[in-house]
Amino acid sequence: MQALHDVLPGGPAFAVRDPAFLADVLEGLSRPQKTLPAKYFYDLEGSRLFEEITRLPEYYPTRTELSILRGRTEDLARLSRPGLAVVEFGSGSSEKIRALLRALPEVAAYVPVDVSGEFVRAEAARLRADRPDLEVVPAIGDFTKELDLPPEIRARPLLGFFPGSTIGNFEPEEAGRLLRHFAALLGPGASLLVGVDLVKPDSILNPAYDDAAGVTARFNLNLLRRANRELGADFDLRGFAHRAFFNRPMSRIEMHLVSLRGQEVHLGGRILRFAEGETIHTENSYKYRPADFEALARRSGWLPETMLTDPAGLFALFALRAG
Ligand code: SAH
Ligand code: TRP
Repeated sequence: MQALHDVLPGGPAFAVRDPAFLADVLEGLSRPQKTLPAKYFYDLEGSRLFEEITRLPEYYPTRTELSILRGRTEDLARLSRPGLAVVEFGSGSSEKIRALLRALPEVAAYVPVDVSGEFVRAEAARLRADRPDLEVVPAIGDFTKELDLPPEIRARPLLGFFPGSTIGNFEPEEAGRLLRHFAALLGPGASLLVGVDLVKPDSILNPAYDDAAGVTARFNLNLLRRANRELGADFDLRGFAHRAFFNRPMSRIEMHLVSLRGQEVHLGGRILRFAEGETIHTENSYKYRPADFEALARRSGWLPETMLTDPAGLFALFALRAG
């Protein structure tokens, strides 16, 4: 069990370093296809860069999902219950909860769950200032792990909120396990509102993950910068380049960091070797067909109730009921 809830308004002023970071980086970089766990993107700088991504002209998911949340208030209102508590998994800037709250005025409590502690505490403080009537209880930690909901939250009707196509960053099998985990955490009677990015042409998908201004490249490279800063590694940031493309047979965007030359990197007393052109696979973003996502939800403890999409069918919000 992680001790996660943080009811203090400010929280500690120092960044808590994740003790598993070194072991996870060494493990990922020892595989034949090198990888780095994506959750480490989100230190304070990574969370800021992600915010910048969400405002890029090429990155359609955020504005599309927000337009659905703002436009479909009547459909969303069906999720409303008196005294409802919303638990958001991977809340980041908590921008979307503001839109959801307009559709669900009965929401009494909000639990943002995120690994990016400093960032989320600051966003929670802003939300409290704007909505003094709302109980805001951040839980800083990994939502894939065991989570303790505070007892005062447990007693309420619960709505899980998992926007941003964060579910797409998991392998479909892992995504199913995660949905089961949320079902167990939220319990019978709960609902879950999940944002899912849909399959579409490469001409829209590829630029969304490889923008002209190079913000997504900076976000990707920030993983190496973080390893340098927190683990004392010596990655040469000019020695790696961002690469992102839609792998249609796998139905996923893949993000890699390509080694531009043969090179050695020192980390935790080890020497890591990179061949020219070798990549570190840093992230996937799976794109679903609606029927495939509904089947995944059904296999994972949830009954699909409603699918809300934008007119162009770029993005979908699925309302699921624990079943
Ligand atoms: N919900 C927001 C942010 C999405 S970005 C939106 O839709 O815009 C994904 C967020 O999930 C980041 O803030 C990141 O810190 C968080 N995150 C990613 N993996 C996580 C994990 N395993 N546990 C907790 N938070 C995680
Ligand atoms: N879940 C979102 C997506 O897959 C956000 C995201 C995660 C992202 N990692 C990313 C966006 C890397 C751009 C680059 O689109």
